[in-house]
Amino acid sequence: MASNKILKVGMLTMFSILVLAWVVSLTFSTALGDPVEGSAPIPELIANASPDDYVGSDSCMACHEDQFKKFKSTKHAKLKDVAAWKNKTQGCESCHGPGKQHIEGAGDKTKIVSFANMNSKQISETCMTCHSGKESHNNFRRGEHFRNDVGCTDCHTSHGSPLKNARPDSITFIGETSHQNPGVADVAMLKQSEPQLCMGCHTETKAQFSKPFKHKVLEGAMKCSDCHNAHGGFESKQTKLAVGSDTACIKCHNDKQGPFAFEHAPLKTEGCASCHSPHGSSNPKMLNRSTVRQLCMECHSSISNADPGAPQAPHNQTTTRYLNCTICHARIHGSNASKYFFR
Ligand code: HEC
Ligand code: HEC
Ligand code: HEC
Ligand code: HEC
Ligand code: HEC
Ligand code: HEC
Ligand code: HEC
Ligand code: HEC
Ligand code: HEC
Ligand code: HEC
Repeated sequence: MASNKILKVGMLTMFSILVLAWVVSLTFSTALGDPVEGSAPIPELIANASPDDYVGSDSCMACHEDQFKKFKSTKHAKLKDVAAWKNKTQGCESCHGPGKQHIEGAGDKTKIVSFANMNSKQISETCMTCHSGKESHNNFRRGEHFRNDVGCTDCHTSHGSPLKNARPDSITFIGETSHQNPGVADVAMLKQSEPQLCMGCHTETKAQFSKPFKHKVLEGAMKCSDCHNAHGGFESKQTKLAVGSDTACIKCHNDKQGPFAFEHAPLKTEGCASCHSPHGSSNPKMLNRSTVRQLCMECHSSISNADPGAPQAPHNQTTTRYLNCTICHARIHGSNASKYFFR
């Protein structure tokens, strides 16, 4: 009896939090100038519910075996074993609202929160009542995905998808897991593994990663999300982490990071992509131009006239040596010894 009361109090607290979260999210969306239809209305069912209206996931099983089975293997289903979630609304009803009236009405679909008529922004808002805390998610509303109506459930399943429900729709074989189960995701309830998931919409990237010089994404050696934050963020092109798009690269290429006594300005100002095409390129070292010289001359056109006649002048254009700038300017990413990046 007493524990039941605690449960009720706990649930009431949860309601307040939920309602507050909705209100906060509404305020937030408006503050950021998002269209109003992007914010889910608080379904009346949730707003008017009493703790008794919540009946638990097990009572859904009889009629919705398919959803129940998938759901069982997700982290969402395991919240019931987490102490901090004991007295909070979780399970099916954390997304669908209280189920009592729905069940008493033998599956009355006007008495359950349905997503059938919600757009992707509204569905995402439902997820964000719980998922806006982490840095990687609280920027979701700033991201290109949210803005372009790509929502949580375009990438994630809502109920989970056990491996046996394999959907063999990969466009390339990648990685060991995906090689055996093409098209199936084994992390984070994704609808598909990367890169298939991303390439399903970003079709142009497949060609980029098929170029002669590329990062081995199609081969499964790395993922789109090694460099990108699918959830949004402050960086241009949703590249990962703070302070400049470089950080996405530095994780693996830390020798290019500096700080150097002599920095090559574009690394800090424009980032790696000012010289490299990080997805792939027809040029060695994934450079943006077919020769190193061409690349350099786009910013350093004035050196072409330096001592043009003098035979010993480093930039004497009549010698072939001049053409390969990085033979002399070898520390092109920055140097601690030479202003001109010789060593
Ligand atoms: C994390 C939020 C969430 C949880 C938890 C959840 N659902 Fe859903 N449910 C959704 C969304 C979103 C949809 C809309 C379709 C979609 O995107 O998959 C949906 C759709 C449905 C549908 C309509 C048919 C369909 O599959 O599209 C049923 C029935 C359903 N859910 C039942 C359940 C049951 C039963 C549980 C618990 C075992 C549950 N849901 C748990 C979010 C959730
Ligand atoms: C007695 C059987 C029964 C139980 C128990 C039951 N449902 Fe349903 N539910 C149905 C039926 C039948 C429908 C289909 C209604 C229709 O399509 O007309 C349905 C539809 C739904 C839908 C889809 C509504 C829509 O149109 O998008 C959701 C979501 C849902 N149920 C969630 C739940 C949840 C969550 C529970 C547990 C709290 C639950 N149901 C328990 C019978 C049941
Ligand atoms: C009632 C709160 C709540 C709601 C609503 C909710 N989630 Fe979650 N979700 C959680 C918690 C808590 C975890 C576990 C977090 C952890 O383990 O770090 C989680 C975990 C996840 C994970 C990670 C799964 C894994 O295997 O690593 C994904 C993906 C996810 N949720 C997506 C969604 C989506 C999509 C929706 C909306 C359709 C949603 N969530 C709605 C609370 C919620
Ligand atoms: C464009 C695709 C995409 C969208 C949209 C998306 N996610 Fe994700 N999400 C991913 C990928 C990819 C990962 C796995 C990254 C990895 O492998 O580490 C992930 C991981 C997660 C995780 C587990 C790891 C973590 O960061 O905590 C959670 C929870 C999650 N997403 C929730 C959400 C929620 C909630 C939404 C909507 C607000 C959402 N996602 C929208 C692609 C997406
Ligand atoms: C090695 C790191 C890296 C990997 C892996 C990577 N990207 Fe990128 N991506 C970047 C960088 C850096 C930019 C920004 C380039 C620029 O500023 O010109 C970018 C830009 C983009 C853009 C914006 C393109 C444009 O023209 O505006 C999209 C879309 C994109 N990536 C999708 C993907 C997808 C999908 C995958 C996986 C198949 C992927 N990326 C893998 C680093 C990466
Ligand atoms: C359901 C379709 C869809 C999926 C799946 C998807 N995207 Fe996108 N993505 C879009 C749309 C639409 C845009 C905005 C228009 C554009 O830039 O193409 C976008 C934009 C982007 C951008 C550019 C951001 C900018 O600032 O220009 C990046 C980077 C990106 N997505 C990466 C990813 C990654 C990584 C994944 C996989 C984890 C992914 N996307 C999955 C549809 C999708
Ligand atoms: C997850 C680790 C990882 C990240 C993140 C990463 N790279 Fe790489 N990169 C590699 C690996 C491994 C290679 C070796 C090439 C191969 O696959 O054979 C490579 C190769 C390269 C090469 C060509 C080297 C050569 O000798 O041909 C360039 C240039 C490069 N990366 C630039 C970048 C840039 C720019 C970024 C950020 C946008 C980046 N990388 C992010 C792992 C990474
Ligand atoms: C000013 C142009 C420029 C910028 C900016 C630049 N690079 Fe490079 N990078 C080059 C050139 C040129 C080469 C080829 C050097 C050669 O000819 O051997 C190269 C080669 C590389 C290589 C392969 C050879 C090696 O030294 O390991 C990697 C990896 C690389 N760059 C990563 C990066 C990363 C990461 C960034 C951003 C932090 C970056 N680059 C920014 C011009 C640039
Ligand atoms: C995106 C533009 C850009 C590209 C491409 C570029 N640089 Fe630079 N570079 C700069 C800028 C800006 C500075 C700083 C100029 C200054 O301080 O006067 C600089 C500085 C230098 C310096 C030092 C000059 C000095 O007087 O201290 C050298 C040497 C140099 N670059 C060589 C190269 C070479 C070689 C390449 C080709 C591999 C190259 N740069 C590609 C923009 C670029
Ligand atoms: C044979 C070696 C050598 C080659 C090859 C070479 N440089 Fe230089 N570079 C030098 C030397 C030596 C200096 C210093 C000149 C001085 O002390 O005034 C210099 C200076 C520079 C400077 C800074 C001073 C200025 O003139 O603006 C830039 C920028 C530069 N080089 C760019 C390039 C580019 C771009 C290429 C390729 C087209 C290139 N260098 C090829 C040796 C070379």
